[in-house]
Amino acid sequence: MKNILVLGSGGQIGSELTVRLREVYGNANVVASDLDPNRLTAQIREAGPCYPCDATKAEQIAAIVKDHKIDTIYNLVAILSATAEKNPMLGWNVGMGALLNCLEVSKEYSAALFTPSSIGAFGLNTPLNGTPQDTIQRPRTIYGVTKVSGELLSDYYFERFGVDTRSVRFPGLISNVTPPGGGTTDYAVDIYYAAVRGEKFECPLAAGTLLDMMYMPDAIDAAIQIMEADPTKLIHRNSFNVTAMHFDPEAIYAEIRKHRPDFIMTYNPDSLKQKIADSWPNWMDDTAARAEWGFNPKFGLEQMTIDMLAKLTTKLL
Ligand code: NAD
Ligand code: SER
Repeated sequence: MKNILVLGSGGQIGSELTVRLREVYGNANVVASDLDPNRLTAQIREAGPCYPCDATKAEQIAAIVKDHKIDTIYNLVAILSATAEKNPMLGWNVGMGALLNCLEVSKEYSAALFTPSSIGAFGLNTPLNGTPQDTIQRPRTIYGVTKVSGELLSDYYFERFGVDTRSVRFPGLISNVTPPGGGTTDYAVDIYYAAVRGEKFECPLAAGTLLDMMYMPDAIDAAIQIMEADPTKLIHRNSFNVTAMHFDPEAIYAEIRKHRPDFIMTYNPDSLKQKIADSWPNWMDDTAARAEWGFNPKFGLEQMTIDMLAKLTTKLL
């Protein structure tokens, strides 16, 4: 049995991961936290321990880790790509501040640490088709710079201090529970909300913009599976390519129109998001994750679309 602390339980991933971790490890053994406790759902607040916690303050993390004998930290604190580009100092201070504090606290209290990286850790001089596990990483966004720095620091703490750091490079994540927090891939969530509400959708990325994506249930499984993996089988640690599908706006639009034939999408590319998306992989090679810890996503575009439309219809209508 683990004692787990989740930092960022109010976010797109944290809100679903916290609930799932409590199903797996028990409500009392999973502490939820966020800078803004108002972001925590009633379900999370009522089912188990919860704290306000600013992850840029090491002493706040350490106090929870000590009091709850935490042995595993899920650090989900970051400012997503498009938002960070508008305020680079905030992106750096939050992303790196939270990570460095988690690494130090994990070192002191012998905790294992999961911190997601991203497709944003790659850049234009990375091979964009079949992006290898180990390749050139020269991103030109502050988000990407924090992700590459985070991967390096996490490997450093493992090699130098034996901290059990593990990570995946998530692609764009699609969920019907908590809306995304200002990323470049958010359109692939927003489009489903528009379709279910019967609204027209203006796509902020141009036709033909290919990006890796994953449905949230597969992302949650991956986050739990990698922390349960046999460490002797891990050749890599920070961080594994993981993907479940890749598509451009036209493909997701066509898939939705199979179920909502009247749905209309037009294009109005946002120059900031377009520039970021163009520098990210079209599709990654995730062979290492599949071989080293059995990553095996279940949802493709077709199954995800059926599930998203059904769940959002129940939620919104
Ligand atoms: P999010 O923006 O939805 O949630 C982040 C949460 O962190 C928010 O609830 C916010 O209140 C909280 N937070 C912000 N500053 C904080 C601080 N100082 N202390 C404590 N909490 C703070 O982000 P997300 O989409 O859930 O992403 C989680 C992680 O996964 C991030 O590292 C992100 O880079 C990574 N990731 C996400 C995606 C995606 O598509 N969502 C893709 C790749 C990687
Ligand atoms: N979904 C994230 C973003 O667009 C990818 O890391 O920022």
